[in-house]
Amino acid sequence: MSQQHSAAPAPTSAVSAVEGRPDWWRDAVIYQVYPRSFADGNGDGMGDLEGVRTRLPYLRDLGVDAVWLSPFYASPQADAGYDVADYRAVDPMFGTLLDADALIRDAHALGLRIIVDLVPNHSSDQYEWFKRALAEGPGSPSRDRYHFRPGKGKNGELPPNDWESIFGGPAWTRVTEPDGTPGEWYLHLFAPEQPDFNWEHPAVGDEFRSILRFWLDMGVDGFRIDVAHGMVKAEGLPDLGDHEQLTLLGNDVMPFFDQDGVHDIYREWRLVLDEYSGDRIFVAEAWTPTVERTANYVRPDELHQAFNFQYLATHWDAAELRTVINRTLDAMRPVGAPATWVLSNHDVTRHATRFANPAGLGTQIRLAGDREVGLRRARAATLLMLALPGSAYVYQGEELGLPDVVDLPDDVRQDPAYFRGAGQDGFRDGCRVPIPWTRTGPSYGFGDGGSWLPQPADWGGLSVEAQTGEPGSTLELYRAALAVRRERADLGAGDAVEWLRAPEGVLAFRRGEFVCVANTTGESVPMPAYGRVLLASGEITEAAGEAKVPADTAVWWSAS
Ligand code: NOJ
Repeated sequence: MSQQHSAAPAPTSAVSAVEGRPDWWRDAVIYQVYPRSFADGNGDGMGDLEGVRTRLPYLRDLGVDAVWLSPFYASPQADAGYDVADYRAVDPMFGTLLDADALIRDAHALGLRIIVDLVPNHSSDQYEWFKRALAEGPGSPSRDRYHFRPGKGKNGELPPNDWESIFGGPAWTRVTEPDGTPGEWYLHLFAPEQPDFNWEHPAVGDEFRSILRFWLDMGVDGFRIDVAHGMVKAEGLPDLGDHEQLTLLGNDVMPFFDQDGVHDIYREWRLVLDEYSGDRIFVAEAWTPTVERTANYVRPDELHQAFNFQYLATHWDAAELRTVINRTLDAMRPVGAPATWVLSNHDVTRHATRFANPAGLGTQIRLAGDREVGLRRARAATLLMLALPGSAYVYQGEELGLPDVVDLPDDVRQDPAYFRGAGQDGFRDGCRVPIPWTRTGPSYGFGDGGSWLPQPADWGGLSVEAQTGEPGSTLELYRAALAVRRERADLGAGDAVEWLRAPEGVLAFRRGEFVCVANTTGESVPMPAYGRVLLASGEITEAAGEAKVPADTAVWWSAS
């Protein structure tokens, strides 16, 4: 069965126009755009592709290599676009396929690569296949493309197993059959509006290989794979029993996550990608129990990168950071994949706010904490991240030092996890507030028509305009760090980190001519001056070959 789609524009950008090293992605800095909240081109209060296109020069000047866009496909927006109703169409709220085409071309002309989000674990309940499965009833072949099951209990009134949705509540919803009777249940690891595909059905794989080709023909440079660890479920959908189900980074492999069968899918996808020129990539959003399990996703015939969520979840603590850095590099070395580093994204509390709070509160925090300390640590954490070998991800607005918005009124909140009760990630709206571009104006330059989530009153002072050219601003720190990374190929290259002696609470490492020191303590520490200071996240004072590195500060030195 095929769907009706809007015709794609002639794929004139099918071959990526970006010149560059074939292994560009091994040390790339990739900027995440959350299209709803980046820039609003048509003044309806919601970000869109035209808004992104007009801001591409800002991203080029920031110095990133690629842009990953969260989903902009046709969607009822039950989970901000991660519920896709047509994988080959742009939602009118974000624009048209022609806008996507223009965005890809303009990005390429500026030397930026474009990575789009692919959502293969589930569709929207408005996807043609699911609507048909509901309409055709139990036993119909269309139900086999999802996980439909009869319920347990005398009248099938209990869910088929004990799995819980990541957003809270049961992972199953009972349907009303075409004849009006209560009937089968279907599986949804996320919201009820996001039914899970049955990847055992060959039509699902066929459809997704075709979707890959559609976007590759449009000229995209890669895909971020949503819930890359979830598509294959354990045989028989076994109960979990007494298990902490909501811990994504738990120690056990769940029957619905990180099943070995997912790797067969990626081997097939890799063959498709490799038919295309231009060094295009896959990056996995795979929450696995360990970095070693994450490494399985980036074996040479599978995906290129996987997000390092163990790193994202690490506290601002030198010993913990050193452990996760070593472990990551050790895990990636045997498979030959680059390590990746990430501090923030659209699903977690921004790191400026995480680090403003005491350690141990997790990645979903609704407390402002000490903003000054949080920002100081966030800036230092960024310099540390950008000094590590491999590829780094930057989430829109972190270059402005934005905090999470922790006091959004309940009546504006949209995260489905919030409405489904005590899900472990019910607070994601706070990192999704539209970013400020200008000091003043109704939505600080986000657009002419306000902003779909209210921005805090002090955000004009954090805007791109306010920080541009301002010595010491967070934006200028990012620009300078990315410029150094571009000038010095050695910064992200390879996989070696040589640890140097340092006082407790301080990380110091050498990479060739380059030395990075990060002081995670609340006190200033004396360190040897390792050469010429390239960049620092705070004020460094040097005298007689010794440098004072203030509390929560990182510094880059060059021996040459
Ligand atoms: C991960 C995405 O990052 C998140 O925003 C979404 O809610 C879930 N996957 C479900 O698609």
